[in-house]
Amino acid sequence: MVISSTRQHPLPPLQRLLVIGAGGRENALAWALERCSGIEQVWVTPGNGGTETHQGCQRLAIAETDLDALINSCQSLQIDLVVIGPEAPLAAGVADGLRKAGLTVFGPGADGAQLEASKTWAKRLMEEAGVPTAKHWTASSEAEAMAVLQQLQTPLVVKADGLAAGKGVYVADSVDDTAEAIREVFSGRFGTAGSQLVLEERLEGPEVSVFALADGERLRLLPPAQDHKRLKEGDQGPNTGGMGAYAPAPLLDAAGLEDVRRLVLEPTLAALKQRGIDYRGVIYAGLMLTKTGPKVIEFNCRFGDPECQTLMPLMGPELAQVLQACALGCLDQAAELAIQDKCSACVVAAASGYPEAPRRNDPLNIDLQTGPSVQLFHAGTSRQADGSLITAGGRVLAVVAQAKDFDQAFKASYEGLAQVHFDGISYRRDIGHQVRQS
Ligand code: AMP
Ligand code: GLY
Repeated sequence: MVISSTRQHPLPPLQRLLVIGAGGRENALAWALERCSGIEQVWVTPGNGGTETHQGCQRLAIAETDLDALINSCQSLQIDLVVIGPEAPLAAGVADGLRKAGLTVFGPGADGAQLEASKTWAKRLMEEAGVPTAKHWTASSEAEAMAVLQQLQTPLVVKADGLAAGKGVYVADSVDDTAEAIREVFSGRFGTAGSQLVLEERLEGPEVSVFALADGERLRLLPPAQDHKRLKEGDQGPNTGGMGAYAPAPLLDAAGLEDVRRLVLEPTLAALKQRGIDYRGVIYAGLMLTKTGPKVIEFNCRFGDPECQTLMPLMGPELAQVLQACALGCLDQAAELAIQDKCSACVVAAASGYPEAPRRNDPLNIDLQTGPSVQLFHAGTSRQADGSLITAGGRVLAVVAQAKDFDQAFKASYEGLAQVHFDGISYRRDIGHQVRQS
């Protein structure tokens, strides 16, 4: 969909914002946006138990994809900018619907969200744009996938196509494991996300996440972040949404980041544009830094979670205006986004049973004093009628801290976590092991 043409200076007033989503990412976005210059109030829907712990943030009880109710509320609250956090409403076309109603929205339409919602679509786009990525083969039946494996006789990565909430990816160690994963994907375990699969060459190297803010034409890059996807220390155990992160990841220096812009992000945005897609939102490139250069593991159409919680405290007060300018297609008219020259460390506390079957309804006790360089972002929490907090999801919260080096930042983050209590709390003690001396 082509959105209205570029506006002229100055940017319209920006005081009242709506963030859509319920996770830690949205909790951090709301916190960061509320602190920006000129912002009066940030609403979050459906939000979580932590939304109203941030001054100037207020919850609404509208579901992420209830378009009519979202439009009504935006109109009655006179919302100047809507920021959509998660992939599901983006893939469902919520940004399109809100734009059609005349609202200013940061987040791609359903067309652009295919970057994340369909791995085969994203692979085709990368191929056309010459973006470096793993070799791949698609299959729409078990027999077809087995035939590819038979021919290659090497362990492969098996991915269910479509949104499977971070699950549905198997990094196989042997040909037998690969066959097992193929059978599992076609067993129906991932619903419609498992009706087609992508087989990929297995890449080797450290992973890093790069986020670009796009206005359809132009890009601004944020500092690279490193996520920790595995549940257990030593990067063992099942894949999760992310157990912690840090930024800026020294894996990519300024020159490395420029390579990613030139080799990955600019060609991707150009390929989107060539398809008539006016992409106004985040392009999240999940990269593997291989011996032969950066290669894309996946694209997402939103901020990473918990990378967003890690990055938001580093952002200057221009952030809201920069997102507004992306939404209006005039990023060149926004102020430079100041980024604090500090190390940011984020550790996620999960509920027992996460990721398979997280336990809920455990009372939360928080003694932590947040401050200018320590934040608490809620994710799976819920506030009871009496004001008390209980757990309500797998990743319950994150403590984020900034300091001049990573040792101090992680020390503060872990000290903060020690002030948080709920039955079954679990977190990795080794987040940031790549950048810590202690
Ligand atoms: P994805 O959901 O596509 O990001 O995959 C989840 C995780 O699987 C990634 O973060 C990687 O650790 C791993 N992975 C995905 N694709 C590959 C690949 N082609 N080679 C090696 N590891 C991969
Ligand atoms: N932290 C990984 C993700 O948001 O997909």
